[in-house]
Amino acid sequence: MEAVKTPFQRHLLAGAKNHNTQCINDITTYINVKRVDLKSIYYLCNMVTPSKESRSGNTSKNTIDNMQKILFVCLGNICRSPMAEYIMKKMVNDAGREGEFEISSAATSDEVVGYDIYPPAKDCLRLHNIPFEKRGARQVTQADYDHYDLIFTMDRDNQQCMKRMFRDDEGKIRMLMSLAGKDQAIPDPWYTGDFESTYRDICEALGHFLKEKSK
Ligand code: 4NP
Repeated sequence: MEAVKTPFQRHLLAGAKNHNTQCINDITTYINVKRVDLKSIYYLCNMVTPSKESRSGNTSKNTIDNMQKILFVCLGNICRSPMAEYIMKKMVNDAGREGEFEISSAATSDEVVGYDIYPPAKDCLRLHNIPFEKRGARQVTQADYDHYDLIFTMDRDNQQCMKRMFRDDEGKIRMLMSLAGKDQAIPDPWYTGDFESTYRDICEALGHFLKEKSK
């Protein structure tokens, strides 16, 4: 088996061994962006074994299997969906509910795969004290559709595109603003330049969602 060499690979493996969700997301991104060879993928995946609790059928909220898995999807995965991902992570952490949710984001297109969050979106997140990490945009896959419980799209085009790609017989795909009872899209700040409105819309929708989920 190939030796793990870089600090980043060591970080991924340490996280995977501890069933750290963020690290498992990082591995997915790493595989998609770096297009690592099959031997490395096999090596990394072997590290992500079921936790003791999930093997024994323990229903503790802190096992990955019992987390609600949420995926945010937009066109490029460099503005709206990573903003939603990190805003939700912050809301969940602030509420001490990080054990309840696995949260990630992806794109419908492959236009900007591998690109980090768009700098004005980072500025907006910083302004609101939302922590984020260096990342690479990735395109949504069938494995994502199968894995995630709820998939929130940012606008009607993403919605239609996702339903064309995955049919959605399971009814997992919803527009994010429907959480706030609104039949409307989150306009793309890549085109509007209005990142504050994006931030407000996402907070409004997620505020409703987390309130509903805590009942
Ligand atoms: P997002 O915005 O879907 O909110 O990430 C976009 C960013 C980049 C592109 C499209 C939308 N692009 O085509 O490059």
